[in-house]
Amino acid sequence: MYHIITFCLALIALFLRSNLAITAAIPRSVTWVHNVWEFSNETWVENIAVHANGQLLVTFISSPVVYQVYPLKVKKPALVYQFPDALAALGIAEVESDIFAVIAGNWSDKTFSGTTGSFSVWKVDVRSFESSADGSTTSPTSIVKISDILNGVFLNGLTLLDKKAGNILISDAGAGVVLKVNTITGEHDVIIDDPLMKPKPGAFPVLGINGIHIHENFLYFTNTFQNTFNRVQIHPDGTAVEPAATIAYDGLGDDFVIDAAGNAYVTQGGWNTLVEITAAGAELVVAELLNSTVVAGSTAAQFGRTRFDKNVLYVTTNGGIADPVDGYIIDGGKVVAIDLGA
Ligand SMILES: *[C@@H]1O[C@H](CO)[C@@H](O)[C@H](O)[C@H]1NC(C)=O
Ligand SMILES: *[C@@H]1O[C@H](CO)[C@@H](O)[C@H](O)[C@H]1NC(C)=O
Ligand SMILES: *[C@@H]1O[C@H](CO)[C@@H](O)[C@H](O)[C@H]1NC(C)=O
Repeated sequence: MYHIITFCLALIALFLRSNLAITAAIPRSVTWVHNVWEFSNETWVENIAVHANGQLLVTFISSPVVYQVYPLKVKKPALVYQFPDALAALGIAEVESDIFAVIAGNWSDKTFSGTTGSFSVWKVDVRSFESSADGSTTSPTSIVKISDILNGVFLNGLTLLDKKAGNILISDAGAGVVLKVNTITGEHDVIIDDPLMKPKPGAFPVLGINGIHIHENFLYFTNTFQNTFNRVQIHPDGTAVEPAATIAYDGLGDDFVIDAAGNAYVTQGGWNTLVEITAAGAELVVAELLNSTVVAGSTAAQFGRTRFDKNVLYVTTNGGIADPVDGYIIDGGKVVAIDLGA
């Protein structure tokens, strides 16, 4: 109860503070919610991508790994790859059919800090990957390092910019910028540097721009400790047309997904919640998740890609490691399925 009240007060405070469109904590109905998988205690599941065949790929911050998760639980989750020389794996996105770009590097969920220059981007090709029912690997994945990113402070979110040219965008949550990386040549550069991407001065951990996704010529991004959801219009080469603008004060936003109609589903790990920011700018709370461990420490979300689960949102969580539920409850990081209905 305490948590719900805190949550509502926080939303009201945000509402009063903002002159933007937050209508209040309106609940959004969902058809069902269930756990796809809960990993062991203190596993921080950080990000998610979905195969065309329906399987899910998730990254961890608590160890430098990518796991494949089977939404219908036909098999146990299987280790796809463990990155060498890194503490964590972060943003992931498909760059070619069944080939995923993934960030690895040193950011620690024990110290909540990282090492500038330790980050790298990899290509994880799962076309050859197979696992058995107990989760053991029967045919390994093939891996190519795209590049070290020596000027990276805290590389975090990753999204595809241009499939044909092989370009991705990466958010640097520490430097408060966006980089473009070519997944074929490894060439990379900072291409957007905007005040709305910067970490909030004095806040710990140092975390500004976080999740990034492109929808119709706009790059959308959360800024976690500035509590904002923003967008900037971009050219086809990823550079900004104009300065970014805040479209909602959405709390402690982490990663998110945008549906075809332009509605964003934004995780708010610190509030154990998931909100929908509609294309019109209204904010709805995806129901029943307020102060529970259902999506404790939510980190990222993606829709299913088969005709059976295209309305199902798969949400990853850190189990509350960063911000325990009700101040003390931590459980294993999860993949949670939420059917939003047609
Ligand atoms: C999970 O980890 C937390 C933090 O270390 C601990 O307080 C809690 O008791 C653990 N829970 C279980 C079920 O082991
Ligand atoms: C990451 O941290 C580990 C453990 O401290 C260290 O062994 C490794 O060299 C670091 N990697 C990079 C790329 O700095
Ligand atoms: C909120 O948390 C309290 C205890 O922490 C619990 O009794 C209550 O059922 C929870 N409410 C929801 C909606 O999860």
